[in-house]
Amino acid sequence: MGLFSGLELNSMSDLFVAQIADLYDAETRLTSALPKMAEAATNPALRKAFQDHLRETEGHVKRLEQIWGLLGSQPSRQTCEAMKGLIAEGDEAINATGDSDVRDAALIAAAQRVEHYEISGYGSARTFAQRIGRTDAARLLNATLDEESAADAKLTQIAESQVNVQAGAR
Ligand SMILES: [Fe+2]
Ligand SMILES: [Fe+2]
Repeated sequence: MGLFSGLELNSMSDLFVAQIADLYDAETRLTSALPKMAEAATNPALRKAFQDHLRETEGHVKRLEQIWGLLGSQPSRQTCEAMKGLIAEGDEAINATGDSDVRDAALIAAAQRVEHYEISGYGSARTFAQRIGRTDAARLLNATLDEESAADAKLTQIAESQVNVQAGAR
């Protein structure tokens, strides 16, 4: 969220809308970043994980658009400075030179920071949705949250079973 950039929060509904606008910006940015992560990955399982999560991320954008519809609003983006920064750090891993396994480990580390950030954001948004009685929105947010957690677990599995084993031998 572009913190304190003219945000007026008088109710939990205001806060919920602001969080959705932040997530919508973050997810939209990720749909551009993930193809580059996939292209940079050398390990085939890692590349596939990024490609699979790109498709899921496109679904996350759609779910947020559904939520805007439920709220009776047009989709709106609030610049997510944190995601901009996380993606910039991911770019450092993408552009790094050196050993391909170590670079893959760096890509995973960058990607897991993103997933944990998303898990945190969706956890809060879901909680706010429940609090204001928007169980319809909460259900959509929970579906995305489950996919973020699964993506994070998949990255851990690829790191521990393959990439870190090879990178650790360097
Ligand atoms: Fe996502
Ligand atoms: Fe994600």
